[in-house]
Amino acid sequence: MPFYITTPIYYVNARPHLGHAYTTIVADVVRRFHSMRQTEVFFLTGTDEHGDKVVRAAHKENMTPRVYVDAISRLFRDLWPELNVQPDRFIRTTDADHMAVVTQVLQKIYDAGDIYFSEYEGLYCFGCERFYGERELVDGKCPDHETAPEPIQEANYFFRMSRYQDWLIEHIQNHPDFIRPERYRNEVLSFLREPLGDLCISRPKTRLNWGITLPFDPNYVTYVWFDALLNYVSGLGYPDGERFRTFWPAAEHIVAKDILKPHGIYWPTMLKAAGIPVYQHLNVHGYWNVEQSKMSKSLGNVVEPLQLKTTYGVDAFRYFLIREMTFGLDSNFSETAMVQRINADLANDLGNLFSRVVSMTHKYFDGIVPEADPEVARQYSLGLGADAQRTIAAYERAMMAFELQRAVAAVWDFIGQMNKAIDVSAPWELAKKKTTRKQLQAVICSLLKGLRLIAGLIYPIMPETAARMQKHLGLDPDAPFYFLEELQKWQHIPAGTPLPKTVMLFPRIETAAPPAAPAADSVQPTPATEIKPEITLDDLRRIDLRVATVLNAEPVPKAKKLLKLEIDLGERRTIVAGIAEHYTPESLIGRQVIIVANLRPAKLMGVISQGMLLAAGQEAGPVLIMPDQPVPPGTALR
Ligand code: MSP
Repeated sequence: MPFYITTPIYYVNARPHLGHAYTTIVADVVRRFHSMRQTEVFFLTGTDEHGDKVVRAAHKENMTPRVYVDAISRLFRDLWPELNVQPDRFIRTTDADHMAVVTQVLQKIYDAGDIYFSEYEGLYCFGCERFYGERELVDGKCPDHETAPEPIQEANYFFRMSRYQDWLIEHIQNHPDFIRPERYRNEVLSFLREPLGDLCISRPKTRLNWGITLPFDPNYVTYVWFDALLNYVSGLGYPDGERFRTFWPAAEHIVAKDILKPHGIYWPTMLKAAGIPVYQHLNVHGYWNVEQSKMSKSLGNVVEPLQLKTTYGVDAFRYFLIREMTFGLDSNFSETAMVQRINADLANDLGNLFSRVVSMTHKYFDGIVPEADPEVARQYSLGLGADAQRTIAAYERAMMAFELQRAVAAVWDFIGQMNKAIDVSAPWELAKKKTTRKQLQAVICSLLKGLRLIAGLIYPIMPETAARMQKHLGLDPDAPFYFLEELQKWQHIPAGTPLPKTVMLFPRIETAAPPAAPAADSVQPTPATEIKPEITLDDLRRIDLRVATVLNAEPVPKAKKLLKLEIDLGERRTIVAGIAEHYTPESLIGRQVIIVANLRPAKLMGVISQGMLLAAGQEAGPVLIMPDQPVPPGTALR
């Protein structure tokens, strides 16, 4: 079954920003995922270039609409390759083939009697380019623009949308995931509880002439939504194109909640009236908020996506957007959150796992993938084969349902299982004796297989990292992706394959003044009686213990036990420690302490703690461990 994915076509009255980047990256992730299912895919994005808003934006720049739309449309088109987004077509509503389709569909609906001419008086918001009903206004104002709409009287053409209301309700009820997630389906059904009314689909040329002329009245142009929505079919060569026949039956739209109504109501009724089958699913996501306020062109607090992808790399940028937002809900965007994710998920979880396994292959087998004895391999598979199948199934299910963050989480669960498998099998112990050589081979082979699976599954989100991992696993980095079916086979990397020296996939980002860590442990000392299981030197080396100087200390509001410390660890960090009942802030300033420097950051009472303070866990209270004499901050413990 082919697969067709679309994004909204973006207005050219503003430059591309984070919100546009998110939707388009989602579409690209989904496109790549479907290629992994051996599906023929078509991915459409583009720009929406007609209408009032665009004309006003062009005038503001002292340009003609034509010159202006060309310039801004190019910004969008040029951005996508920089984000590794690869659409099959970039459509513009000023493209001749699109305009011809709009004309044709208008005529078809007009001929069928679903477009009529009528006098109309209403409240018009120039920002939204639409009339508002009294009930839709908030304190008499447009909820988006917070300005009072102006009463205008006009004779216009109307699309008999009301005729399709009952059909639409029934269709949504019979196809429970037609609009998903469910909250948006419910929202559309609740709009539909009120009488729908008809849709004004024209603008007199006296008011606006930057649009597509109505085929049945040269004095009018088409309303921008009637024009724009049709891009989804014109982009495929409707009505006779081969692509239209192949891909339209598999149409999946992605939009944010701001344009739910045009896509959930206008579009299906237009399709119905034009005799075109409706799309498969409308996939609706939430809004990125930047520092609590809705990010939009009108507020001007727009995050420049290019800047962040340059700062942190395209893959990390794509990963963050996909992992951080639960598809359907709003998310807050912050650079700090992004850095935390990069450090925790990419540098730590994925990056460390990768370099650990590749380094062990170098250390124990001179970088050559060993042979695995099938019998021993069965015993020493570490359960990873079963974990792998579960992971692929969960990943596929989540991707199919547009729960992208869940698909990513499934891969990271597997990364956790791999890390655990290393700890349990302790290859460094197996490496000590000749008699356990076969076990060591089997373990390393399983781990390498696991890395191959991870490289395969992260491809839709992080295509560059997938290729780098492939290269360092001795696989073909130019094979762009694996089919899921291939990954399910859970095959060995061929014995004898030489692996290039290990590589750091994601260097840790050192931050000047942020996060920090931990924790519960620092608050509740371990009872002296509990002796923990033996660990190896390798295990110990994973803990980064360092000397730090306390620069500042203060209580954490509303937390009796906690102090917030600013420390110098070669870099400045904040940590939270559960010692407030035993140390005053003043007594700590200037003193040196020992810190677990690579503990994953954690939030304690709203403060992010990046590191843990070492203290002896006495019944009577923690006693800080301090160096015997001053040492430079950041000195590692050996
Ligand atoms: N031109 C219309 C769409 C016509 S589709 C037939 C339009 N354009 S837009 O430039 O305003 O783009 C809106 C879309 O951009 C949203 O639906 C969403 O895909 C994306 N986003 C814009 N701001 C966003 C956020 N702050 N957060 C998430 N996505 C956002 O509407």
